[in-house]
Amino acid sequence: MGRQITISCFRFNPNIPGDKPRMQDYKLEEYEGMTLFIALNDIREKLDPTLVFDFVCRAAICGSCAMLINGRPRLACKTMTRNLPSHFTVMPLPVFKLIGDLSVDTGKWFRDLQMRTEAWIHTTKKFDFNALEVRMDNKIAEEIYEPERCVECGCCVACCITANIRDDFMGATGINRVCRFIIDPRDERADAEYFEVVGDEGGTFGCVGLMACDDMCPMELPLQENLAFVRRKMAGAGLKLTFPGIKL
Ligand code: SF4
Ligand code: FES
Repeated sequence: MGRQITISCFRFNPNIPGDKPRMQDYKLEEYEGMTLFIALNDIREKLDPTLVFDFVCRAAICGSCAMLINGRPRLACKTMTRNLPSHFTVMPLPVFKLIGDLSVDTGKWFRDLQMRTEAWIHTTKKFDFNALEVRMDNKIAEEIYEPERCVECGCCVACCITANIRDDFMGATGINRVCRFIIDPRDERADAEYFEVVGDEGGTFGCVGLMACDDMCPMELPLQENLAFVRRKMAGAGLKLTFPGIKL
């Protein structure tokens, strides 16, 4: 017989006229290997089919099941209930637009970030369909792969004090994305061009250094290291733009 657990879920559907935000308790029996995703699924299948939450992969790959679990942003499919107290809360991520209950619209936020950071290779080279694939140095490929591991869950944004008070802050994930293109030798953008995108308080200079992003990222990306790298580049680019001819 497993432990009895109580999950207090945030409930509110902004699309239902008159609906009010509230917490609703669900009691269920825990069993071996139960993740929070499985528990929420059990609630939806056996207790309450109206509960809204997101998932796709169930394997910490798609990033869609992020939520506040006892106040900390985490992936529901990567969280074992046995590591939580017998009574805990689940809430939707802040910062993102609420769709309903535990579901938020991270898709639009990340699409806007994609456009804002112009997250594609900028090159003047013409693509030749007949040319052989150009090999990339393994070390560089691995360096690029590291920031590419971001699953766009939004945990680093939800726990970020700056993102919670500034609508225009791109968060650690945005800076991580810019870092990915700066280290890619195929991208011909100069530092001054990146400065236009990330060299202000909505980018690298908005971070106040509390480092919650680093603690909360479920992929354990080195977000502060990447921020420091981009910040150094942008500080140099800013000085060169202000004092043309300066030697650094
Ligand atoms: Fe999620 Fe980490 Fe990507 Fe932030 S950087 S969106 S926490 S995977
Ligand atoms: Fe894909 Fe959790 S369901 S990350």
